[in-house]
Amino acid sequence: MQIVERIEPLRMALAEPRSRSVRIALVPTMGALHEGHLALVDRARARAGCVVMSVFVNPLQFGPNEDFARYPRNREGDARAAEARGVDFLFAPQPDEIYRPGRAVSVLPTALASRWEGASRPGHFAGVLTVVAKLFNIVQPDVAVFGQKDIQQAALVRALVRDLDFPIQIIVAPTVREHDGVALSSRNAYLSAPDRKRARVLSRAIFAMRDAFDQGERSTASLEALGNAVVGAEPEVHLEYLAVMDPDTLEPRALASTGAIVAIAARIGNTRLIDNVILGIPADAA
Ligand code: PAF
Repeated sequence: MQIVERIEPLRMALAEPRSRSVRIALVPTMGALHEGHLALVDRARARAGCVVMSVFVNPLQFGPNEDFARYPRNREGDARAAEARGVDFLFAPQPDEIYRPGRAVSVLPTALASRWEGASRPGHFAGVLTVVAKLFNIVQPDVAVFGQKDIQQAALVRALVRDLDFPIQIIVAPTVREHDGVALSSRNAYLSAPDRKRARVLSRAIFAMRDAFDQGERSTASLEALGNAVVGAEPEVHLEYLAVMDPDTLEPRALASTGAIVAIAARIGNTRLIDNVILGIPADAA
C-alpha cells in the first residue's frame, strides 16, 4: 500500500491503473478505522482492481461546538488496518492540501439536507458534500462506497452525483454492528462503560419498530410510539429524532412500507449517536 499526502502525486500514481483500464474505487473516511470502514473496503474491492481510501478529518463538516478537536485520530493504526485489508492507496492529506487560502466555492445541498441531521448540525452537509466533491475530482473513481449508518449523507451523495453529473457509481454498504446490536462508529470511543450499555437502546428501538413492521404494523404513529417507549426506558438517553421516512426524499411518512427508513439520533452525555434500518429489506441486501 502506498500512503500519499498530496493531490498531484496521487493523481500521477492513479494514472497508471487508469491507463490499463483498471477500475478505481474510493472509500472516503475520517479515519479511526473500525470494522465498519474495513467492510466498505471489501465492497470496493469486489467492484474495482484499485482501491483508494481517503483518511481526512474534514474541518468543514464540524460545527463550532462539535467534536472536531477531539475526533479520534490514529494515523499509524489506520495505515496498518487499511494495508491489512488490501487498500492500494491511502490518501491522507493535511487540511491545507485540501483547503487552500482564498477558497471561494462550496457545494450547498437543498431541502434534502434541512431535516434530521441537517437540522441538528447546520452547515454539516455543505461541508460533507464539498469535501466529497473534491475527493471525487481528485481520485476520479469509477465507484465510491459509503456506509448506510450515515443514511442521510448517502442520500445526499447520491443527489450530488446525479445533480452535478459525476460519472461515479455509489454503493451504500450495510451497517456493521457489535454483537449487542450497537452500530460501529468512531464516536463510540467517547462512551463511558455505562453509556456504552445505554447506547444499546438506539438499535433496540429501531429493531423493535422493524419487527413490528415485519408483523404487519403499517402506522407510523404506532411504530414511533413503540420506539419512543423503548428509548424512554433509558432516561439518560436524550432522543433527538426517531422517525419513519421516505428513502428518496427523507420526508416523514404517515404509513410505513417496504424500503422506508427508520432513523434515530440521540445524545448520551456529550456523545451524539445515529442509527437506522430499512424496513422490509434484510440488513445485508445492499
Ligand atoms: O462519513 C464520513 O466519514 C465523512 O462524512 C466523509 C464521507 C468521509 C466526508 O468527510
